[in-house]
Amino acid sequence: MRLRNIPEAKGVVAESGYVIHPDMDEILTSETLFGRNLPLAVEIGMGKGGFILGMAAQHPETGFLGVERYESVLFKAIRKMEELDEAGTAPDNVRFYCVDAGLLPMHLAPESVDVLYLNFSDPWPKARHHKRRLTSREFLAVYEKFLKKGGRLEFKTDNEALFDFSLEEIGETPGWTLTDVTRDLHRDPVLSEGNVMTEYERKFSLLGSRICKLTAVREGGMMQEKV
Ligand SMILES: C[S@@+](CC[C@H](N)C(=O)[O-])C[C@H]1O[C@@H](n2cnc3c(N)ncnc32)[C@H](O)[C@@H]1O
Repeated sequence: MRLRNIPEAKGVVAESGYVIHPDMDEILTSETLFGRNLPLAVEIGMGKGGFILGMAAQHPETGFLGVERYESVLFKAIRKMEELDEAGTAPDNVRFYCVDAGLLPMHLAPESVDVLYLNFSDPWPKARHHKRRLTSREFLAVYEKFLKKGGRLEFKTDNEALFDFSLEEIGETPGWTLTDVTRDLHRDPVLSEGNVMTEYERKFSLLGSRICKLTAVREGGMMQEKV
């Protein structure tokens, strides 16, 4: 993603009531995030927030934590939320967190997350950067620290090479089972049901790209209900 520096972004992220700023040793739960006990879904690399805001509206019974590492990107999601607020339609089940995904286990307790969404993650095309891909086995080990056994990871991308890599990494990592795979999500009548498009998904599908999607389950528990 090309980043435009937005001078006011830092201040807006720091001040926004939609953004959490946990203390060093604070553990996040749906109670502390939303004031009530809800299943917890996390999106990593949420970008401008179209997906998470759409999902939150579609699933008011689930709490959504959107994670984005750049303030100048998160800023756009905050502005969207403020517009919804002005219209009286802001969901009360979304919080944002500006942090790198690798640091999430500091604040998310083991077995606390029901579903993890990765959408159009940066492809890091150079082989030597493969550990930075959010579907690498290194990141799967990070997710194992907070995803429930039986919890799901859902990943969408237009990038076939990254999709192939992701299928291989998940397939070769003990403790994970692939449950759904499509290379043409928008023409798959079952998997496209309830699909909420991300900003990248809208852009690339308008350009004619096919959207790939996989779902994988962390083994060892009851499969979580579909969010
Ligand atoms: C290509 S954009 C996709 C944005 C959005 N998910 C979409 O589909 O429209 C990837 C986003 O992931 C964020 N990102 C990449 N690596 C991350 C990491 N390790 N932790 C948190 N966010 C990350 C980037 O800053 C960027 O906003």
